[in-house]
Amino acid sequence: MSSVSWLSRLVKDGVIIAPSLLAANFAELGKEIHKLEEGGAQILHLDVMDGAYVPNISFGTPIISSIRKITPLKFDVHLMIEKPERYIERFCQLGADSLTVHVETVQDPAGVLDMIRGYGVAAGLALNYGTPVEQILPYAEIADLLLVMSVPAGFGGQAFRDDSLESVRRLRDYVGARTVIEIDGGIDSKTIALASQAGVDIFVAGTGVFCADDYGKQMDFLRDLATRV
Ligand code: DX5
Ligand code: ZN
Repeated sequence: MSSVSWLSRLVKDGVIIAPSLLAANFAELGKEIHKLEEGGAQILHLDVMDGAYVPNISFGTPIISSIRKITPLKFDVHLMIEKPERYIERFCQLGADSLTVHVETVQDPAGVLDMIRGYGVAAGLALNYGTPVEQILPYAEIADLLLVMSVPAGFGGQAFRDDSLESVRRLRDYVGARTVIEIDGGIDSKTIALASQAGVDIFVAGTGVFCADDYGKQMDFLRDLATRV
């Protein structure tokens, strides 16, 4: 199956909630992932931060390769690191299903997207909150996935920034239905419908899922709010 088809197939089936592991209890990582599976998750969003491109450090390859062995969930890896080209091969080989780099961090976005796709992995390009959408437009049609940050990259639990929706609308107008659009940051029951209206396909939610006792019910609730618009 081509790198693009698993993503577009998922999105065709309806609204996708991608829980972000950053908000999980790391002392119980395996259990947390199994609770997401039981709750019907299809994608796991994995935030890799280097303390340089963003001020925070999260986790890297050892954690991802360990959890790859215990779950069939699709791994949506979001690299918030400087010079991500250095690590494309590692992340693709350890089991990323989609790999997203920030447009602000690469000199040759088209070349990096090709490199990712060359490993059979869906190639994503992210736009940080505050970066003009014009910076990503030239590559919008050659990415499999466009990730729009609705908070400044680096931390979970931040408040949603409404003006990021203008970037989503511009991208959706530009790519039509061809490209999958994902939003990341501050997605919860108050904000998900707005993002859905703007044209988002995949909704990353950290706090918005892990705040609940029952992750499955919470994902159903969010999915329902996004579907009804
Ligand atoms: C932030 C990360 C997000 C984060 C989202 O830089 O990219 O994926 O986990 O967390 P919430 O949903 O809590 O805003
Ligand atoms: Zn993320």
